[in-house]
Amino acid sequence: MSRQKILVTDALPYANGKLHVGHVAGSHLPGDIYVRFQRLKGHDVLHIGGTDDHGVPITLAAGKAGVSPKDIVDRYYLLIRDNLKKLGCVFDNFSQTSRPIHHDTARSFFTRLHENGWFDNREVEQLYCSSPERFLPDRYVEGTCPHCDYDKARGDQCENCGTLLDGTQLINPRSDICDVPLKVRKSNHWYFQLSRAQKNLQEWLRSKTDWKDNVRNYCVGWFNQGLEDRPITRDLDWGIKIPLDEADGKVMYVWFEAVIGYVSSTREWAERVGEPERWKDYWYNPDCKLVHFLGKDNIVFHAILWPAMMMAHGDYVLPYNVPANEFLNIEGQKLSTSRNWAVWLDEFLEEFPPDPLRYYLGSVAPETKDSDFAWKDFQARNNNELADIYGNFINRSLTFLIRYFAGIVPAPETLNDDDEAILHILASSTKTIGLHFDQFQVRSAIREYVILGNHLNKYFNDQEPWQTRKTDTDRCAATLYVCAQAVRTLAIVMAPVLPFSTDKIWIMLNLDGNVSEQHWDTAGEPGVPSGHAVGKPEILFTKIDNNVIEAQIAKLGPPS
Ligand code: 2FM
Ligand code: ZN
Repeated sequence: MSRQKILVTDALPYANGKLHVGHVAGSHLPGDIYVRFQRLKGHDVLHIGGTDDHGVPITLAAGKAGVSPKDIVDRYYLLIRDNLKKLGCVFDNFSQTSRPIHHDTARSFFTRLHENGWFDNREVEQLYCSSPERFLPDRYVEGTCPHCDYDKARGDQCENCGTLLDGTQLINPRSDICDVPLKVRKSNHWYFQLSRAQKNLQEWLRSKTDWKDNVRNYCVGWFNQGLEDRPITRDLDWGIKIPLDEADGKVMYVWFEAVIGYVSSTREWAERVGEPERWKDYWYNPDCKLVHFLGKDNIVFHAILWPAMMMAHGDYVLPYNVPANEFLNIEGQKLSTSRNWAVWLDEFLEEFPPDPLRYYLGSVAPETKDSDFAWKDFQARNNNELADIYGNFINRSLTFLIRYFAGIVPAPETLNDDDEAILHILASSTKTIGLHFDQFQVRSAIREYVILGNHLNKYFNDQEPWQTRKTDTDRCAATLYVCAQAVRTLAIVMAPVLPFSTDKIWIMLNLDGNVSEQHWDTAGEPGVPSGHAVGKPEILFTKIDNNVIEAQIAKLGPPS
């Protein structure tokens, strides 16, 4: 049987800012952990990412900096790509939506939908600014929501009730990028007939009983309101030109083309590996599992608009799952980049190694509700779990082996009930942790790590090998045999979350190959033979002092 194909995408961050922990907690880290796990399971996994280079904010950032939008997005692309790499997020391809391959893919996609009759052209009224002359993008207009009366609704969406809006629907519209009073002007736009897709979408989503409740409920809310046709063109220079003669001066709405960016990035990968058609083995394959990782503000685009676009196109596999995450707060407050109430990835990685961040963000992942990044909690998890539980067990086991067995894993004469119980726990924990990863439950997987690690330290303490080495050498040998197996199990099951540290553990164990080449299903079995010589243990995790954490807290702010 051929291996299961799994295509994993992480939301494409806008290329006009640095990454913060909210980005990575929402999409890149859960995506990378899932990819690493599924690879250990032996599946054929492709991990696709990139940056989202269009949209008005990028043009404004470029204007402010006195450079072209392409300059801005190229600069941030490198920063974003390199920071993700440092965090251990590994992609098969990491592209940009400003590249020709994406323009080409998005135009072909548009043309197919156009030929299939999914667009109609409508004359609409839009808010217009006379100085400088331009149509004002909806998100730069603020006013009162006609549905819930919230007086700070943005022109594209009301943050209070979630309704998608047009700027002209706002009561008392105003804009902070334009000093003169706003006018209303007519313009022509292409509308995607999303309303036509509602019935099929609803039926399809009804079958997704294993999706996360937060995602399903969100979509049901949209269906209950009734899906409306959406304009997918904008009057702008920066973006993807509409491939129709009559659409001069129009570009695609950034959200319409950004999701197609996943396809373009996969095409770029296929070209790079010298098999330009191979992207279709994933995207045009009904048996491929397509999984999109993203934060909750992106749900509507991935679970409604994008599947509707793919249905309208006809050739694409629909998402297998959209395990969207909620938001990550910082020290109990909403993350705010403008107030610097944020933890920036580049700054973090200058001060700390990547694995503790991966571990911490995994243990507080906002999987079912908003969660919190708290520096003291990060310190506690690092010191009390990484260092005191796993680091301690691995270090004491290997040190003992080196010191009293010349580094050679002993052959047990007999295994007693305690030894058997631990070997059984290694097998059952591997199964449980695997189920959690398969179901996008990284928090629960990490809770199992802690339970497993505590069992192992208790076993070491209870067996007292420092005594039995003098009083009962067979017992001591059995204990250390079991500990060696446990260190290997930890290396494999923790590899998705702690790739750097588990690579080191594998080297310390002196086993063949790399930890990433192992098969998950063997992780719970004894895999370190008696007679095997282990390597030298090294410190895996370093404790973090209070003053280091206090300095980080002092960088935040001001609070709201
Ligand atoms: O919210 C964002 O940062 C968007 N740039 C995400 C786009 S995801 C996909 F559509 F490309
Ligand atoms: Zn509202």
